Amino acid sequence: MSSNRRNRQAIIRTAGHARHPMLPVPAPLRRALALAFAASLAACGGSMDDDTGADATLVAQGREIFRHDTFGDESLWSDTLRMHEVIEAAVDPLTALAVGLKVDVDALPDDLRAAIASGAADLASPATTLSLIALDAVVGIRGTVEEAGGANRLARVGITCALCHSTVDDSFAPGIGHRLDGWPNRDLDPGAIIALSPALDPATRALYAGWGKGRFDPRFNVDGLDSPVLIPPAYGLDGVHSVTYTGDGDEIRYWNRYVAVVEMGGHGRFVEPRLNLDIRNGDDDLVSDKLAALEAYQLSLAAPAPAPGSFDAAAAARGAQLFAGSAGCATCHAGPLLTDANQRLHPAADSAAEPEMPSYASRSASGQYRTTPLRALWQHPPYFHDGSAATLEAVVRRYDARGALQLSDGEIADLVEYLKSL
Ligand code: HEC
Ligand code: HEC
Repeated sequence: MSSNRRNRQAIIRTAGHARHPMLPVPAPLRRALALAFAASLAACGGSMDDDTGADATLVAQGREIFRHDTFGDESLWSDTLRMHEVIEAAVDPLTALAVGLKVDVDALPDDLRAAIASGAADLASPATTLSLIALDAVVGIRGTVEEAGGANRLARVGITCALCHSTVDDSFAPGIGHRLDGWPNRDLDPGAIIALSPALDPATRALYAGWGKGRFDPRFNVDGLDSPVLIPPAYGLDGVHSVTYTGDGDEIRYWNRYVAVVEMGGHGRFVEPRLNLDIRNGDDDLVSDKLAALEAYQLSLAAPAPAPGSFDAAAAARGAQLFAGSAGCATCHAGPLLTDANQRLHPAADSAAEPEMPSYASRSASGQYRTTPLRALWQHPPYFHDGSAATLEAVVRRYDARGALQLSDGEIADLVEYLKSL
């Protein structure tokens, strides 16, 4: 495990203690931003008119942070992992799309759109990737592109929250479209991307490469164990006062600080006595002052509704009765959010994904699981924290077998239609 230890040392920096909080946004600018944001909402028929200007400003700031802020994590992704070297040398757009990276069509100028549409853009050249990064068009990737000796060079690169928690609607081409924030990118293979780093030894590289699409292990940096989990949605969390699969914190900002510092390598500090963690990166704090806005933005992200006609309404109504009644689902998936997360957590054995080696819950601060709030299930297969149920039918059959529910095939189908309707 010496390679893990090295890795960890790269992320856990303890030098320096100065804090330089971001300057607060001056009130006149705040008001102007609020007005501009309200106007843009009105223009596109948005329905946030109940919100105060201050909330709208905070949400708008949070969106910027969610999409574009690296918290200074270039220290990890460039200085330590040297990802800028690999991207510049070997990651052409086709490779980038193949590992699940997405391109924001709204960041592309017309001539580039036309060149991609006509096939004139060289998608097999890393130079094209650099052009896309320079436009801030690769979702979740921020880079500094500089000209040197007549060629573009990628000087530094970092990542943002959108890397894992946004995708695009494929409206232009597969992997290229408008941003969908909060939608987990289940095409993304973060392990395969990290495994490209020239700074890693072969064993560590192989471990990362084994994680698979849509999966990431946010605790590997801390404990060196290996049980990657699915990237979850960051939408539909308003009212859920228990975040992560294991309910580690009461507020989104608890986990956002963890990820920004411990996983992304952003500059700041994360302290968690339950895990005996006190991690500080850099001698400045580029995280704390952004957490309120970042949280407001995530809470504003509603779960997307299922497409009309994508489920059988009569069967779903029967399924809802089973869910609340004889199938026993509502004993844990209770209330409007379909979770008891605000009341209690569950021992590992209550998860239909356990037993698992190593148990993900055992690696967390709570040591337990949260009943996952059920929302937009249609959008994000597979299911359970480890992705062990490929379909909603597999979910229901798992519960049927484990709980000896003795559901008929018709009842299973009805429950599935109900889950598709959420
Ligand atoms: C490399 C991929 C990756 C990046 C980057 C990332 N996350 Fe996550 N995120 C995950 C994974 C994996 C989990 C699941 C961890 C768990 O629940 O134990 C998660 C969990 C979450 C959750 C909990 C959702 C719930 O159901 O309670 C929120 C909220 C979240 N992330 C927001 C963010 C924000 C905000 C950022 C940027 C500061 C961020 N994430 C960056 C992969 C990522
Ligand atoms: C004893 C409490 C409990 C009961 C009863 C229960 N669940 Fe769950 N459910 C959980 C927990 C805890 C999780 C998170 C498990 C994990 O990911 O490890 C979960 C996860 C899920 C998920 C995965 C959601 C996602 O986004 O990955 C679905 C779907 C689900 N349950 C549906 C059901 C259905 C349908 C029933 C009834 C047949 C049911 N549950 C009964 C506690 C329960």
